[in-house]
Amino acid sequence: MAEEDLKSVVAWLRSDRFPVQPAKQEAPEVEYSFFSKLLSHTILKPGEYPQQILQTPDSTDQVAFGRYIADGVADCYSCHSSDFLDQDKLHPERSKGYYGGGNKLNGEGGKPIFTANLTFDEETGIGKKYTKSQFIRAVKFGVRPDGSILRQPMSPHPTLSDYEVGAIYEYLKTIPKLKNDIAGKYAELQLATK
Ligand code: HEC
Repeated sequence: MAEEDLKSVVAWLRSDRFPVQPAKQEAPEVEYSFFSKLLSHTILKPGEYPQQILQTPDSTDQVAFGRYIADGVADCYSCHSSDFLDQDKLHPERSKGYYGGGNKLNGEGGKPIFTANLTFDEETGIGKKYTKSQFIRAVKFGVRPDGSILRQPMSPHPTLSDYEVGAIYEYLKTIPKLKNDIAGKYAELQLATK
């Protein structure tokens, strides 16, 4: 995230505005599971710091701005890539299967759910599936073009503006298309795609 935006977040957290007013309540002790402890001593390493101060991109440059919102602020790529353990937080575009989706998550009732391919591949991505306004509706309100509802853990993002989500769409148009058939993954497990 850009320096200026991080400072704004800190200023907000230190303010007495709803819902971050100072509270006397103490946070409970953190208890790590054996698995988290194991990960933190093995795979998970402290992140690298950026070498320069990151600037907020020019918001009139839709592609640069969309990339910033998607990668820097809303963290869309981390779910919409192919492996949680093969990601580059400082250079998200180097993450494995960047926006090609296929990451397997736990959905409602513990059923497996795969993240969607958000590249503009015509067959397996969103190239033909979503117009810009349909994309904005899906991301803000969780509704697909056919009216069905996107399932958790894809949360609606109603606080992003139409301009911000539209910029994400413009950015996604510019990244390499990846062929990754998510429907096929459901078929293999004999699960419904919706
Ligand atoms: C917590 C993980 C997670 C995050 C973060 C996330 N998504 Fe998703 N997204 C999913 C999953 C899982 C699905 C599949 C939902 C389903 O099949 O019902 C999905 C589906 C979608 C779809 C529907 C695609 C299709 O093929 O119909 C769009 C569009 C989308 N996400 C955009 C975004 C954008 C933009 C962001 C960032 C603002 C984002 N997502 C962040 C998990 C995530």
